[in-house]
Amino acid sequence: MTDDPIRLTVNGTGHSIAAAADTPLLYILRNDLELNGPKYGCGLGECGACTVIVDGVAARSCVLPLSACAGRSITTLEGLGSRERPDPLQAAFVKHQAAQCGYCLNGMIMTAKALLLRNPHPSEQEIKQALRYNLCRCGTHVEILAAVMTAAGHHVARDHATGGAADATH
Ligand code: FES
Repeated sequence: MTDDPIRLTVNGTGHSIAAAADTPLLYILRNDLELNGPKYGCGLGECGACTVIVDGVAARSCVLPLSACAGRSITTLEGLGSRERPDPLQAAFVKHQAAQCGYCLNGMIMTAKALLLRNPHPSEQEIKQALRYNLCRCGTHVEILAAVMTAAGHHVARDHATGGAADATH
């Protein structure tokens, strides 16, 4: 059943969405607005692949009903930057080649972005804390941490060729 349209803003553009109020935001983003940055992973709020930023806070869109988004401002991966003008955080992920299959990246980047919005220079421990519930089954954690550390303004020296560990200092 379709309820009264719900107004929300996505990546700076206003939308009026006519759908059942309990429809997960993730479905609206991917199926109605064709924003495929957020991914469907577990559908249970546990993996983080579907993360978006809602009013500045990271949120798992697979368990966020449309009704909870009324009047709110949502940013998806597409709203951060473009191929030509990437967000500095996205550029850092490219620099550190912080991906294997790439499925978790939306969640890693959006969760890290939300952290940087509230704390532009988090410590390594704060970054690890923020990302601790984002799952990566490929084991790319070292590169992901290096990317976020770089975006947070830390000097990160890492030898990718030899697989050396991240060496991050201020
Ligand atoms: Fe939303 Fe896993 S798909 S947390």
